[in-house]
Amino acid sequence: MPRKVIIDCDPGQDDAVALFLAMASPGELDILGVTTVAGNVPLALTQRNARMMCDIAGRRDMRVFAGCERPLRRAPITAEYIHGATGIDGVDVFEPDTPLEAQHAVDFIVDTLRNEVPVTLIPTGPMTNFAAAIEREPSVLDNVEQIVSMGGAMREGGNRSPSAEFNVLADPHAAEIVYNCGRPVTALGLDVTHQVLSTRERVARIRELGNDVAAATAGMLSFFHRYDTRKYGSEGAPLHDPCTVAWLLEPDLFQTKRCNVSVETDSELTMGHTAVDFWHVTDRPHNVDWAYTIDADGFYDLLVERIARFGD
Ligand code: BDR
Ligand code: CA
Repeated sequence: MPRKVIIDCDPGQDDAVALFLAMASPGELDILGVTTVAGNVPLALTQRNARMMCDIAGRRDMRVFAGCERPLRRAPITAEYIHGATGIDGVDVFEPDTPLEAQHAVDFIVDTLRNEVPVTLIPTGPMTNFAAAIEREPSVLDNVEQIVSMGGAMREGGNRSPSAEFNVLADPHAAEIVYNCGRPVTALGLDVTHQVLSTRERVARIRELGNDVAAATAGMLSFFHRYDTRKYGSEGAPLHDPCTVAWLLEPDLFQTKRCNVSVETDSELTMGHTAVDFWHVTDRPHNVDWAYTIDADGFYDLLVERIARFGD
C-alpha cells in the first residue's frame, strides 16, 4: 500500500523537482494533496507554479491548495534573487489547467488528518501551513505518521543569514512547532542538501531523457546553477527539496541521527538558527532525526530513473 502524503511547498525550482519525484512514484506515495505556502515567492505564484508542475507531469487530477500568505508571527521574506521573479525561472510560465481548489490549505490539512489514517507530511518550504493546522487542532497529530522536512543547518551554517537556512528563517515559530510536535520528524537540512550537487553532467543526464518533465527539470536546474555555483564556488548547485521525497523512497541513501533540534526565535542576529545537539551534550528531548550524509550518486540515479518514467 502506498504511503499517504501531503506535500507542502513553495515552488521554487527544487520544490518543483520534489513534486516530479513524488508524482513519478505512485507505487510508494499516494499524494492526497499539494498545499502551497508563501516562501520563495508570494503565494499567488507558488500555487500557480505547483499547478504548472502538475500540468507538465500530466497530472491535472492532482488537488492543489493555497495556504498561508505570511508566516505565523514574522514579516514575510522571499528569495527571488535565487529563484528568479517567477520562482521557477528556467521553464516558460503558462496558465495551468490543473485547477486551484477553493478550500484553504490549512482547512484541507485539518480535514484530511481528521479522516485519513495515517498521513505523512512533507514540508519543503516554510512550515506555516502545518504549524497553523497543529495550532488550530492539536488532535490532528494523532494521524500524522511522519514528517519529512527540508530545513535547517548545522555544519553548513546558514544560506539566508550567517546562521539560518531559508525555510526555518522564513518562519522560525512554525519550525519550532513542527519539530516539537511529538510525532517522528526527519530533517533534511543543508548538511545533506549541500552534498547533492547538480553538476553539468548530472543535469545533462536528465535532459537526455527527452520527456517534458526532464526538459523542465533540466531547464530549472540550469537556472539554479548560475547563482549557486557563483555563491558556493562548487561544481553545481545544491538540490534541496527532493531530498525529502528521496528519503521516503530510499532511506538507505541517508545517514541520520536522533537528537534535539531547537530553533532560535528571539535573537535577531541568529533568528531561525537550528541548534542541533548532534553530540547529545544537553538533556533536551530527542525530537528530530537529523540527516548528515547522503549518497549523492545514488540520489541522482533514483531521480533519473523516476523522471524517465514520464516518457512511458
Ligand atoms: C530551501 O529554501 C528554498 O529557497 C528552497 O526551495 C529550499 O526549500 C533551501 O534553503
Ligand atoms: Ca522550497
